[in-house]
Amino acid sequence: MTKLRSRIAGCGSYAPAKVLSNRDLEEIVETSDAWITTRTGIRERRITLDEKTYEVASKAAKEALKSAGVAARDLDVIITGTVTPDMVFPSTSCFVQSTIGARSGIPAFDVSAACSGFLYALDIADKYVRSGAANKVLVIGVDIFSRIIDWTDRSTCVLFGDGAGAVVLTATRGKSCILSSHIHSDGRYWDMLYVPGAIDSNPFEKRPSKQKPHVRMKGNETFKIAVRTMSRAAKEVLEFNGLKPEDIALLIPHQANIRIVNATKERLKLTDDQVFSNIDRYGNTSAASIPLALDEAVRNRRIKRGDIVIFVSFGGGLTWASAAVRW
Ligand code: UT7
Repeated sequence: MTKLRSRIAGCGSYAPAKVLSNRDLEEIVETSDAWITTRTGIRERRITLDEKTYEVASKAAKEALKSAGVAARDLDVIITGTVTPDMVFPSTSCFVQSTIGARSGIPAFDVSAACSGFLYALDIADKYVRSGAANKVLVIGVDIFSRIIDWTDRSTCVLFGDGAGAVVLTATRGKSCILSSHIHSDGRYWDMLYVPGAIDSNPFEKRPSKQKPHVRMKGNETFKIAVRTMSRAAKEVLEFNGLKPEDIALLIPHQANIRIVNATKERLKLTDDQVFSNIDRYGNTSAASIPLALDEAVRNRRIKRGDIVIFVSFGGGLTWASAAVRW
């Protein structure tokens, strides 16, 4: 009998309504629309001032459930990739579970892998389904980076935006399925990109922590590693499945910088039509980046049944990941 696999039965996304343009940022820090556009490809991003992470996540989740035709009460597992939860605990997934009306008692938990959070969550969800432990899994990527940005630091505050994306995986023995997923990390490079101090490092120390929980990034070094790693991750998933770059119908890479997306495209010798980007309108939404882009690609009919779709991500940790899907 054909092996049990998971397929993406539906997807959804949500981005806050408030648009923060490059021109708006010119009022906040010393920067220019020209610099941001040419160095990153970002023109605007969405920012929320009053929504919680779990609310943003739940909106994307409800869309994904609707598009999959799956009722929240039929979910077996909820997994969320995020590094900007509303609280240290409970997890975002627990809040989502009660908000969308999923059954009590199912496992709901978060995964911390920064910009690779969605692909990490997808990898775990796929393994739940392949093992037969779950039939229907909700996978979410959500981040509200506007809460952990130093809005006086022009080298980071122009890069990020807020949002969420979600998919529902269902068990299948058919051809449309997740072919494979691959997740990796290398903690030696933690200081390339990090946010210090979520909890007290020493409860008996009287001095308040000097380090605010803001994003710190060695931009230029991270950029170089990202270019190398994203193309390597894409090659890994292609080779594993006996695929060639020309087999890719659509590559949906993490949207960190259009120059990283283009470098990945060139290293794999892909055409413009084979690569999806919406970074101009959303910036880097961390764990939300890939599912937000996937949902837009699906709605714009950029993906049809039978297509090979590849996801690749790179982020703090360092973490990187890839997945191949036959749509
Ligand atoms: O999401 C996962 C991981 N994240 C990434 O992969 C992001 C990787 N890094 C990048 O995308 C790029 O490195 C950045 C967009 C962050 C920066 O681009 P860059 O081409 O690497 O610029 P740089 O950091 O080398 O800075 C070049 C210059 C500097 O001025 P000097 O020292 O040459 O005088 C910066 O001070 O640009 C200056 N600069 C800015 N100027 C105007 C940095 N940020 C800005 C800004 N506006 N917002």
